[in-house]
Amino acid sequence: MSDAELIGSIDAGTTSVRFIIFDEFGQIQAKHGMEFTQYYEQPGWQEQDAHEMYDRIVQCIGTAIVKLEQLGRYTREQIKVIGVTNQRETTVVWDKETGRALTRAIAWPDARTTAVVKQLAKSHPKGVNAIKKETGLPLSTYFAAVKLRWMLENIPEVKEAHDEKRMLFGTMDSWIIYNLTGRKVHVTDASNASRTMLMDLRKLEWDPTLCEFFGVNMDILPTIKSSSEVYGQVESGLLKGVEIAGMAGDQMAALVGQKALSPGDAKNTYGTGAFLLYNTGSKIVHSERGLLSTIAYQPGPNTAPVYALEGSIAVAGSAVKWLRDQMGLIKESNDVGIEAAKVEDSGGIYFVTAFAGLLSPVWDSSARGTIVGITGYTTKEHVCRATLEAVCYQTEAVVRNMAEESGVNIKNLHVDGGMVNSDEGMQIQADILGITVTRPEMRETTALGSALLAGAAKGMFGWKLDDPETFKNVNTKNGDQFTPRIDDIQRRKMIRGWERAVVRAKGWEE
Ligand code: G3P
Repeated sequence: MSDAELIGSIDAGTTSVRFIIFDEFGQIQAKHGMEFTQYYEQPGWQEQDAHEMYDRIVQCIGTAIVKLEQLGRYTREQIKVIGVTNQRETTVVWDKETGRALTRAIAWPDARTTAVVKQLAKSHPKGVNAIKKETGLPLSTYFAAVKLRWMLENIPEVKEAHDEKRMLFGTMDSWIIYNLTGRKVHVTDASNASRTMLMDLRKLEWDPTLCEFFGVNMDILPTIKSSSEVYGQVESGLLKGVEIAGMAGDQMAALVGQKALSPGDAKNTYGTGAFLLYNTGSKIVHSERGLLSTIAYQPGPNTAPVYALEGSIAVAGSAVKWLRDQMGLIKESNDVGIEAAKVEDSGGIYFVTAFAGLLSPVWDSSARGTIVGITGYTTKEHVCRATLEAVCYQTEAVVRNMAEESGVNIKNLHVDGGMVNSDEGMQIQADILGITVTRPEMRETTALGSALLAGAAKGMFGWKLDDPETFKNVNTKNGDQFTPRIDDIQRRKMIRGWERAVVRAKGWEE
């Protein structure tokens, strides 16, 4: 029996949740993951049942702990602290008297609020940049406040509970911690709050003017905390009494998990969507090129936050899931890379996977999924390859804009997330970028990030977020590197084709 101290991490992504138990070297000792239901009731809509999502988390905790104890080396008591990381922006409202969600959560890719966004932009002289200075964000269907406003305007039960002061609002981090603590604690962290459009990015406080702009009562909002401190204890179940001490949006947690803690560090995570974050340290860099300014993490209470520039790509793994579940073109997600590798190129087709609009750097919520260039020659292998290429082209556009904006060229892109398991996909990415792509051996970087935030809050293993050296023993195994195999002429030709395809996809939904 080992007497090692362990850290648990709840990683609640868009389509699946998992509980992962790490040791002090960032090695996984046990884990369990489960998918949960996505509801697509209308074109462009995506909803989730917050209760189902939370139940799956509880099941994952149970199963991971059983697996841990089956190893015979550890007991559950060795899990000293847990962290939570989550899909961002997805909006949940619940009744504080019953603890029940008032309606299904509106998931971050949901684009039903296109009209609300247009109307808000019209009402302001700065248009979509109305609140960019305060929030770092353009007005978009992506962020939480417009989803909340839609609920208030369209669901009478929500409006009633809001006006009767029975309602609480949160993104998934708040919902998870509220439930873990037996409904005692209603909090969020600065990184998640920075995705609502309600927080002032400079002050890390809810902004009354923004709340008024979106018609939101401030008493429904969670308290904003740092990303690394004790928020409360787990109230019941196998982790009863364990402190919760790390919290960050999943993309920010992945930045921490990649140990990208210094200005100039960057990573790209390929999950449901793909999100490239570039650490800008204590500086808020405002983008003119379709990137977001966001909180990367706040290392502790009363500590200055670390900011990031972000390129958000709405569809990555979700397109692979669509090929599998809706089109039946592949049986398993991993088959996409296998099929793509059977052909040398995409046979002249481009698949702009704009299922619910395009985010960075285009920001067009009326774009829709478009395949161009189909001929009698096109096969399912070409479609699979074009699906992988779509996220790679969008990543290239983000990297290019980020370099122009920051004046620093990214020479080596650090990647993680489920989609990076495909060697073919990562080779395509290196080819389209024209730079090296580095994939770590241990790819659960998001969950690791929240474990690092939680461990650092408790001073475990000497970890300090302001001293990257203290993480030198964490996740040190080298992974794989992919270097470009095509020349610049070929690369530019492919990118030009992609840009023409994007023009076709834009402005489709009126
Ligand atoms: O902003 C949305 C993002 O947090 C979703 O992450 O990992 O589910 O693609 P993921």
